[in-house]
Amino acid sequence: MQTLGLLDEFLQDETITEIMVNGASQIYVEKEGRLQLTEKRFVDDKELILVIDNILGPLGKRISDEIPFVDARLLDGSRVNIIVPPLSLVGPMITIRKFFKKRVSGSELISLGSCNQHMLNFLQLCVAGRKNIVISGGTGSGKTTLLNVVSSFIKSDERILTIEDTAELRLNQEHIGRLEARLADSEGKGAISIRQLVINALRMRPDRIIVGECRGSEAFDMLQAMNTGHDGSLTTIHSNSPRDCLKRLESMVLMAGIDIPTKTIREMISSAINIIVHISRIQDGSRKIVSITQITGMESDTITIAPIFEFKQTGLDKATRKVVGDFRPTGTIPTFLEELKVKGMSIDMEMFGGG
Ligand SMILES: Nc1ncnc2c1ncn2[C@@H]1O[C@H](COP(=O)(O)OP(=O)(O)OP(=O)(O)O)[C@@H](O)[C@H]1O
Ligand SMILES: [Mg+2]
Repeated sequence: MQTLGLLDEFLQDETITEIMVNGASQIYVEKEGRLQLTEKRFVDDKELILVIDNILGPLGKRISDEIPFVDARLLDGSRVNIIVPPLSLVGPMITIRKFFKKRVSGSELISLGSCNQHMLNFLQLCVAGRKNIVISGGTGSGKTTLLNVVSSFIKSDERILTIEDTAELRLNQEHIGRLEARLADSEGKGAISIRQLVINALRMRPDRIIVGECRGSEAFDMLQAMNTGHDGSLTTIHSNSPRDCLKRLESMVLMAGIDIPTKTIREMISSAINIIVHISRIQDGSRKIVSITQITGMESDTITIAPIFEFKQTGLDKATRKVVGDFRPTGTIPTFLEELKVKGMSIDMEMFGGG
């Protein structure tokens, strides 16, 4: 068992999802969706550095003067970032993103108030129909957790390849290849990017490619793959709205350094991506799928989108400070339903609010 001194108590508390140490004298936690300052503090920076050594030691990583920050994982799988002076002005800072001990299931998402059954059924239909899905949302909005749930809809007779910076996905299918990118070593050598892994994965006969987070030039290769028969792929993108997600995709494609006109990039995006699921951490700290949007095509230079499901806030409960509202179908029917019916899939039209 790894011991992290003062932090152990927070690591064991299942209602705490994040731990943030801002130098020796401040430890914040996110508990049940809300940030709060704890009473605990370290004696001094030295005690804090011991904890950092305990985190990095087993991983063979260390923090150096040249690179005073590092991403790592605790032995239980939680994700950690450490940054120390002189880059941090408040002393060593540790940020821990805890893993749910259990894999979150679709029904748990519903009981957490993150979506409803119809939305899950729709996502399940999209996965079965091999639609390309992007999960979009801000930092810590629950993208990776949702990606895990959506990925669980993939049938176990398919070959899945996952590609990540730090392996966070926990799929329970049997046939999985897991690839993890690598940072450069202390001499600046040996880095392997997500993009290189995507290109390599295409030679590994994947039925599904899951890119944990798309944030750079790999977008280009991913879109190309989606457009050339590798459909049914899944990824997440850091963004503020479905529109913003499209903009980010566009700038990520440009990072690939290939000279393509903007309109062509947009055409690539609109023909590759079918669905954007936007998740958000809302006012009361809960995470909600605020929209499920279809990309419907292009109108002159603009990608057209149509929301299929939305969360509508109707109020705020004064006593509990919880947001009140509901998930609604917009009434728009996805344009690919016919195609899915032709494939022999049965579709319950009730989910779209129709009969
Ligand atoms: N649906 C949910 N309801 C409540 N809490 C959630 C939900 N999904 C995730 N969380 C919690 O929120 C935190 C962030 O989750 P997750 O890692 O999935 O987010 P993310 O958007 O992928 O974050 P990042 O931007 O850092 O990659 C975790 O601590 C997780 O336990
Ligand atoms: Mg994530």
